[in-house]
Amino acid sequence: MLGCLLRGGCSPLLCLWALVLPLVSLHPFNQHGRRDPIVRDRPKLLLVSFDGFRWDYIHRVPMPNFKTIIDEGVIVKEVESAYITKTFPNHYSLVTGLYAETHGIVANEMYDPVLNRSFSMETDSIYESLWWEEAVPLWVTIQKAGGRSGAAMWPGSDVKIHGMYPNQYLRYNASVSFETRVERIIEWFSAPKDESVDFVVLYWEEPDESGHRLGPQNPEMDKVIADIDEKLGFLMNELKKAGLYEKVNLIVTSDHGMTQLSTDKIIELDEYVTRDLYTWVDKSPVVGILPKEGKFDEVYSKLVDANPNMVVFKKEDIPKHFHYQHNIRIMPILIEAKEGWTIMQNRTGAFMSGNHGYDNTLRSMQPVFVARGPAFRQNYVKTSMSSVDLYPLMCHILSIHPLPNNGSLFNVRDLLAEEPVPSTSSVPPRVNEYSYAPIVGSFLGVVMVLGFLVVYIRQVTLKQLPSLKHRSREMSQPLLQEDLHL
Ligand SMILES: *[C@@H]1O[C@H](CO)[C@@H](O)[C@H](O)[C@H]1NC(C)=O
Ligand SMILES: *[C@@H]1O[C@H](CO)[C@@H](O)[C@H](O)[C@H]1NC(C)=O
Ligand SMILES: *[C@@H]1O[C@H](CO)[C@@H](O)[C@H](O)[C@H]1NC(C)=O
Ligand SMILES: *[C@@H]1O[C@H](CO)[C@@H](O)[C@H](O)[C@H]1NC(C)=O
Ligand SMILES: [Zn+2]
Repeated sequence: MLGCLLRGGCSPLLCLWALVLPLVSLHPFNQHGRRDPIVRDRPKLLLVSFDGFRWDYIHRVPMPNFKTIIDEGVIVKEVESAYITKTFPNHYSLVTGLYAETHGIVANEMYDPVLNRSFSMETDSIYESLWWEEAVPLWVTIQKAGGRSGAAMWPGSDVKIHGMYPNQYLRYNASVSFETRVERIIEWFSAPKDESVDFVVLYWEEPDESGHRLGPQNPEMDKVIADIDEKLGFLMNELKKAGLYEKVNLIVTSDHGMTQLSTDKIIELDEYVTRDLYTWVDKSPVVGILPKEGKFDEVYSKLVDANPNMVVFKKEDIPKHFHYQHNIRIMPILIEAKEGWTIMQNRTGAFMSGNHGYDNTLRSMQPVFVARGPAFRQNYVKTSMSSVDLYPLMCHILSIHPLPNNGSLFNVRDLLAEEPVPSTSSVPPRVNEYSYAPIVGSFLGVVMVLGFLVVYIRQVTLKQLPSLKHRSREMSQPLLQEDLHL
């Protein structure tokens, strides 16, 4: 554009218009939440989570289908999940862009002292709306804006949240095959225009389940990982058969990684503090401790220096970068095992060979992230992002106004085929990150000054050499000016 200006090939007004045009909101959903009737072919997005798919699994065995996605799209090498690196908190972070302390699903097993209620993955408590309503998942926001969504077994997607279920969803049932889940999704995407979905979330339990049972270092994991690639291939093929492959933006990621455990690395809390002094909330490797009435100091002092392989935090001392503090569902004492260590009360009970939940800055806790589709660049490798950045990215792709969140579209804009221009309605970037509005502003200013300089010089030059070509260009200017009044 600058080049065009300097060559004098277009008028400064045209150039200015070209600059302003992308700033005009092209959202198919307007500010009042109604779908704009003039917008056709709304963008489509399918978000897939293979639970516990650690970032480096793609390098372990041949993964031809992942390779295709990467060649045709993007890969992010280092993705920081939200703390704690457990399944429920992270799946909710992916669809809200919020840290667990803000979205309220702070663990797979929780206790809410105000409600005096417990939440557990193992019980029907997960269907109680109240646990989920500290945030609004993307499918609800899309539906409130007049769009449509679908969900296949994604944690929380079969729960009524703020009065809504996804337009299409499957109630959680681990026995339903991946292939069946995909077939349903294809139906939802392929439905007639008014019933077709814009956004779908798809969840699959592997390779998490095998990762826990076998441990990630077990050579038997190879075929589990190869099978995930086949499942991705099945999905790609079904999209192709339905004519959706080139239309749907496909993001494949996970909630967290996985690390190897060992029976030599067990911490037994019974050695340090008796069970009648506290309630144990959630499971290793990050355990919430709720001391009994008046027992806080006793429990804390017994645990704090008890074992070098665990860190014991008072709630108010949990490191700021975890963003894991400001929620009543986070217990007064938090114990975090060092990588590879398991916290138990005693050695009886089930022992897992692999686990996750640890410090989210550990490489082993990081998930895979690949994506392809019309919104994405091709054959592009990005170094790092935060998993909360996915939410504003998805909102951008879907042309939805994001709710306040902890992610930043700015951080991930380079994944997009067309770089987004900041609009007044989007959330500001995270604290301590500079905004790019001033840069765009300065750029605009410089371009305008340059534009007028060029016009001035041309006017001076052309005064001596008038031509018909110049005249016709001058005549076209009022038209352009009218356009600007839009
Ligand atoms: C909390 O609920 C339990 C039952 O789930 C009950 O026994 C207990 O008394 C309740 N505590 C308070 C403070 O209401
Ligand atoms: C779960 O899915 C399996 C396989 O499709 C089916 O046989 C079973 O009845 C389902 N269970 C429930 C509770 O719907
Ligand atoms: C270990 O804990 C279980 C309950 O979780 C209890 O039944 C068992 O007696 C305990 N074992 C020892 C050796 O303390
Ligand atoms: C995350 O975003 C929410 C919503 O904007 C905000 O209330 C919260 O303070 C943010 N958390 C951090 C650590 O910035
Ligand atoms: Zn998980």
